[in-house]
Order: sequence, then C-alpha cells, then structure tokens
Amino acid sequence: MAGNERLICLSRDLVDGGNGVRFDLPELGQYVTGFVVRFGGKVYAYVNQCAHVPVELDWNHGEFFDFTRQYLICAVHGAHFRPETGFCVAGPCHGRKLRSVPVQELGQQILINLENLTNV
Ligand code: FES
Repeated sequence: MAGNERLICLSRDLVDGGNGVRFDLPELGQYVTGFVVRFGGKVYAYVNQCAHVPVELDWNHGEFFDFTRQYLICAVHGAHFRPETGFCVAGPCHGRKLRSVPVQELGQQILINLENLTNV
C-alpha cells in the first residue's frame, strides 16, 4: 500500500447495489465522512455530503441507494445521484454532483487514495 492510500474494507463487504461502507475524512473537516459503494460490479467513493447542503446522504448508516438500487439518494430532500458519476439527476441540486474520492479495488481490498483529496 502506498503512503496516501487507506484501506476502507474488503471486496466482499460491498454487495452490488447494497449498503455502502462509511469512512471518516478528517482531511476535509472534523465530522466529514465519505462512503464507498459497489454498482455494476465497480466501486465508487464519494464525500458523504449532498451537493446542495452539506448534510450526510444516508438515512441509516450505510444506506445510500434508493429502493430501485439504481440511484444514490439523499435522505433529507430526496435528490437522486448516478452511482457511477455522482451526478444529480433529480432533486434540489439537479445538475451538480457529489465530490468523488479516488478509490480502487486491489487484491480483494477497497482502497482510497488521499493524494489529491482536497482538490476534488
Ligand atoms: S440536502 Fe440536498 S437533496 Fe438532501
């Protein structure tokens, strides 16, 4: 593992369209968190903040998908985001996007890379 990478969870912890795994992001602030999900077989990570008001997206910890399992949803006002891009397709932040966190799946591990995190 390189110096700026952080292990978040194991590959088996992420079910496609299932619950995500949250992680702390103290690099962005004291109470800032991020999350990683699997969608279409790939993993995606974002800062856990809606694109229009900085509140966390998940209703219960780790529940980021809507009932169709096709979109990430903000539990507060219902904005829908494409899991693969973080782009908001419906809701008060339509046209904006979630802040992505560089993530990779390597050797059955899910790793984020914090190298350029403050620039995302
Ligand atoms: S705070 Fe923006 S839709 Fe939830």
